[in-house]
Amino acid sequence: MQYHPFGNTGESLSRIGLGCYGMSGAYGAADEDEAIATIHLAMDLGVNVLDTSASYGQGHNHRLIGRAVRDRRHKVFIHSKTGTIRTPDGRSAAEGSGTPERLREMCETSLQNLGVEALDAFCLSRVDPTVPVEESVGGMARLVEEGKTRFIGLSEAAPGTVRRAAAVHPLCSLQFEYSLWSRDPEGGHIAVARKLGMAFIAYAPLGYGMLAGGLATAAAVAGDSRAKFPRLQGDNFERNRVLVEGLIEIAATLRATPAQLAIAWVLSANPDVFAIPGCKSRRHLEENLAAAEIALDDEVLKKLDRLFPAGAAAGDRYPPDGMRRVNL
Ligand SMILES: NC(=O)c1ccc[n+]([C@@H]2O[C@H](COP(=O)([O-])OP(=O)(O)OC[C@H]3O[C@@H](n4cnc5c(N)ncnc54)[C@H](OP(=O)(O)O)[C@@H]3O)[C@@H](O)[C@H]2O)c1
Repeated sequence: MQYHPFGNTGESLSRIGLGCYGMSGAYGAADEDEAIATIHLAMDLGVNVLDTSASYGQGHNHRLIGRAVRDRRHKVFIHSKTGTIRTPDGRSAAEGSGTPERLREMCETSLQNLGVEALDAFCLSRVDPTVPVEESVGGMARLVEEGKTRFIGLSEAAPGTVRRAAAVHPLCSLQFEYSLWSRDPEGGHIAVARKLGMAFIAYAPLGYGMLAGGLATAAAVAGDSRAKFPRLQGDNFERNRVLVEGLIEIAATLRATPAQLAIAWVLSANPDVFAIPGCKSRRHLEENLAAAEIALDDEVLKKLDRLFPAGAAAGDRYPPDGMRRVNL
């Protein structure tokens, strides 16, 4: 495993962390025993950061992680997001999710569900367009003062917003979708995080499973939360699958799997970026962690750049209402 200083926290964290979202039923059925075994194996293999959110499984993810780390809390950095509000029709909404009152409630509920005294990082899932970011971050800073979280961070925030927020209180991390087919953070997000002493965390480095090569047709995600993603639908899926075939070919020349190559690309393209591939089984975990050992030379990096130039993916990364809530 490779380790790197996590922003200005003084912590050295594994460059591959474990994304726990899928363990609460987002991508197919959840299996709690396998999920807990996966978290334990991850820690045994050197992973010391878990990514989660108050909204994953409406508290299920936190209760699961709480059980898994009960006897090893001091060995893992819990990076937990605030979650967004659920509307009565089941959609998630950023509006109203960033008030200091709600953030306090989410933090306290998270501590209860996790069964821990403090979070390591409490991260604003989405900038609330109805609340100035200074106000949200001011509320989160009070939680730091009260010892409810050690650090705070942002997710899907635009560079200018990150600067405004960091002027209120130091931030430990910026989390943003970043992968071979989602290259927006190269437009300033990684740079602003670096400049402000924050860790940049690449979420969905496997393109929600697509870049891992295991999704052969759009029908594979029909029953789960990914069915709403434009890139995994209809013609877009077919066009994106051609890119994945190219990735599979390059991976074969390296005796690697496409998942390993996709993760190795995130780590190689930026030596200080963290990746949090999500998985809910030990089999995928072991495969993914081996990516830390794969060094990509310039020739491979150039091949991947040619295959995935900016904008190569067909379709937006989220449906229209999701796109309105990102990069704010
Ligand atoms: N800040 C945000 O807004 C935000 C948004 C989304 C996600 N996240 C965080 O980022 C983490 C990662 O993102 P994600 O889980 O959504 O997407 P991802 O990491 O790009 O992909 C996860 C998918 O890839 C599959 N997979 C994993 N390893 C594989 C392998 N070796 N071979 C084949 N398939 C494999 C997983 O299946 P299995 O589960 O069956 O292994 C799962 O369906 C999440 O868990 C969450 O913590 C943050």
